[in-house]
Amino acid sequence: MARHLITSAIPYINGIKHLGNLVGSQLPADLFARYQRGRGNEVLFLCATDEHGTPAELAAAKAGKPVEEYCAEMHEVQAKIAEGFRLSFDHFGRSSSEQNQVLTQHFAGKLAENDLIREVSETQIYSHADGRFLPDRYIEGTCPNCGFESARGDQCDNCTKQLDPTDLINPYSTISGSTDLEERATKHLYLRQSEMRGKLAEWIDSKSDWPVLTTSIAKKWLNDGDGLQDRGITRDLDWGVPVKKGEQDWPGMEGKVFYVWFDAPIEYIASAQEWVDADKGTDWERWWRTDKGADDVTYTQFMGKDNVPFHTLSFPVTIFGSGEPWKLVDYIKSFNYLNYDGGQFSTSRGRGVFMDQALDLLPADYWRWWLLSHAPESSDSEFTWENFQSSVNKDLADVLGNFVSRVTKFCRSKFSEAVPEGAEYGEEELALINELTSRTRAYEQHMQDMEVRKSAQELRAIWAAGNEYLQTVAPWSTFKTDPDKAAIQIRLALNLIPFYAVLSAPFIPDASASLLASMNVTDTSWPEDVAARLSALQVGHEFTVPEVTFRKITDDEVTEWQETFAGTRD
Ligand code: MF3
Ligand code: ZN
Repeated sequence: MARHLITSAIPYINGIKHLGNLVGSQLPADLFARYQRGRGNEVLFLCATDEHGTPAELAAAKAGKPVEEYCAEMHEVQAKIAEGFRLSFDHFGRSSSEQNQVLTQHFAGKLAENDLIREVSETQIYSHADGRFLPDRYIEGTCPNCGFESARGDQCDNCTKQLDPTDLINPYSTISGSTDLEERATKHLYLRQSEMRGKLAEWIDSKSDWPVLTTSIAKKWLNDGDGLQDRGITRDLDWGVPVKKGEQDWPGMEGKVFYVWFDAPIEYIASAQEWVDADKGTDWERWWRTDKGADDVTYTQFMGKDNVPFHTLSFPVTIFGSGEPWKLVDYIKSFNYLNYDGGQFSTSRGRGVFMDQALDLLPADYWRWWLLSHAPESSDSEFTWENFQSSVNKDLADVLGNFVSRVTKFCRSKFSEAVPEGAEYGEEELALINELTSRTRAYEQHMQDMEVRKSAQELRAIWAAGNEYLQTVAPWSTFKTDPDKAAIQIRLALNLIPFYAVLSAPFIPDASASLLASMNVTDTSWPEDVAARLSALQVGHEFTVPEVTFRKITDDEVTEWQETFAGTRD
């Protein structure tokens, strides 16, 4: 039995995520986790909310709540929605947890011991009106690069240039609007990433099997002069992990916290500790420490392309730099962006469909199927309502749903709600079984390789093969002249339903469970032997005709939803 540690990039706490966020990390990670569990492997699938940093503080201020309270509430909201989408995390943690605080301080202590942290005196912007420093998004002004007037202290949204607060022209506080600002000396910790260039390059070069999207971004940053610059890992903020060296105070760093991108990936590890502390597991080190049994773990991370530099460079610097035997990622699956109807999804502008809204319209399986079968792997992809309608109506309703309904209803009307008696499978049946055997093996390979779209295509072809068989052998005609033969045909078709349910479970878990329940089947083991599984239902095995598995989306709904979602949220 193989062991798979799987993490999804942890979503920011501020606000509900849109479908583009979902398909870029959590959903494909869930697909892979469900598949590996389906194959009988041992899986630990972790995610969390990313709760520190200025976006969290600003969102809390906007909501008029203390930041702790805001984060606790939003964590519950995100956890509920994740459940709604059937994201099967073993644990959904919080980067603001006690466990992450201790571990983050531990890593900082180790990095300091290994001389990978230096203290830098620098000037930051201090606001008299607010009585504080203004890092990152607490300050805006005119971009020195493009002239955009509301560039943020960390980045210009117009030209994407990375900025420092002191770069801004005519800066103002986003808290009070005050322009009564002053440059003041302050001290910060910098991670000496550049020390690790050789080690990182060697490591990334050894990953010839990684997706090109991942390695091309990693190499670009590695070789670009700026990419591996030493990076400030502390901030003058209240909300965050207090700066300490392990358990010891850090002289000169009083009142400062670690930068959100320093503690966020460490939460991948802390989440496993939270999982144990919540009594859901017993041994987190078995997954995370190569000296404690994690050397046979395969660790896979899922994320959007904007997260790749942090996972291929910064976080590995933390891991390597600690000098301790932490489990390093084995495979990084990254994604391009999903666009929304001719533009971008945007959280700040409320453009597109958000996870809660999606679930109000249709059950999770409909979205899971569309999103995964259109995953932005080799390029960006686009959500349109017409495309969504056509995939749902064709793939789910016409191909899969209709197959199930025709077969079960025909059996009920001509025989009974039980597998009918008949002779042995003939040539056509064996041909279908052969085709499905090789398609199943191809599907497994794509799933193993995390080729999400190809997996969806193969699964669709597996469903379609059943339909074509039914269309060709036409049991409704056969029945008129040779009821025995029709019984054989229906027996195979009935056997296909639980077979489809098991193969499809990683994509559409709810439909899969309800099909198995209707077919009165409890065996959810993977069909290693396809032929055996396709004659598993014995003559006389009872079932009930399922309710409609997937309904169609009407043209009126498409029109309505297009209008509803044309504007922006709020
Ligand atoms: N919150 C970040 C984002 O949504 C992802 C953080 S991933 C981790 O882009 F590495 F920090 F865990
Ligand atoms: Zn700019």
